[in-house]
Amino acid sequence: MKDMEELIKNVEKYKNALIQQKFKSKKNTVAYVILDGKPRILKWFAPGFTRQMDVEYSTLKKGSSALNMPISYEKDSDNNVLLMNYIMGENLCDVLNDEKTVFSENQRIMVLLAGWFARFHRSFKTADQFHIRGDSVLRNFILADCIWGVDFEEARVGKPVEDIAGMCSSILSTDPMFTSEKFQLCKTFIISYAKSVEWNLENMNEEVAYALLEKIQWRPEVEETLRNHAHKIRKHGLLR
Ligand SMILES: Nc1ncnc2c1ncn2[C@@H]1O[C@H](COP(=O)(O)OP(=O)(O)O)[C@@H](O)[C@H]1O
Ligand SMILES: [Mg+2]
Repeated sequence: MKDMEELIKNVEKYKNALIQQKFKSKKNTVAYVILDGKPRILKWFAPGFTRQMDVEYSTLKKGSSALNMPISYEKDSDNNVLLMNYIMGENLCDVLNDEKTVFSENQRIMVLLAGWFARFHRSFKTADQFHIRGDSVLRNFILADCIWGVDFEEARVGKPVEDIAGMCSSILSTDPMFTSEKFQLCKTFIISYAKSVEWNLENMNEEVAYALLEKIQWRPEVEETLRNHAHKIRKHGLLR
């Protein structure tokens, strides 16, 4: 993965960007910068990810006025860069898994998160199909005064249950993994979402199990734990 300094050094229009913070990212290079005196997020897509950049840009354009999503200011196709506003807050993965965060606060967050998904799915739904955000993991949310979603490059037509199950698998499998508190948080999240929408979530257990197994490719060191829990959830269900 490239370093943001390289973009700033080599591309004239970003020359005076001052890096404030670099973010953990799977494949792209993302940083919070001050550019021409304004706070901005620069998301520099890896080569070959033009389609993902287009998807993210058009999803932000459609969603950001009504939903808690960043505003995208510019798609710079020459350099594979998206410019958006900086959401000040804490990454949801860090908040939820911090031992100092009390259970009642995490429960409150689950209700907020369910509301975010209900609004996203309702807003992007068309007469005959649903659109989902894709890549539904804790790292792609920021907690500020409310919950904000980021990273929409995998947005696509799909079933809402894929997003909801993706979130549950992220909640369960981030450290501390599979605690009884995590199962309860999933329960609150699912029930709260189901109460706010007019459609059903089908095959939830199967979808969560599948999403857990998919994580093995990134985390081979915990393969056995992921397999065991996927198996149990498939057999006995998530909402025991
Ligand atoms: N608009 C934003 N405001 C604040 N932080 C952001 C914003 N966009 C991304 N981030 C942070 O940068 C990280 C990586 O960005 P992301 O779009 O998720 O890239 P990737 O596709 O590589 O996962 C996110 O997990 C989040 O912590
Ligand atoms: Mg991401």
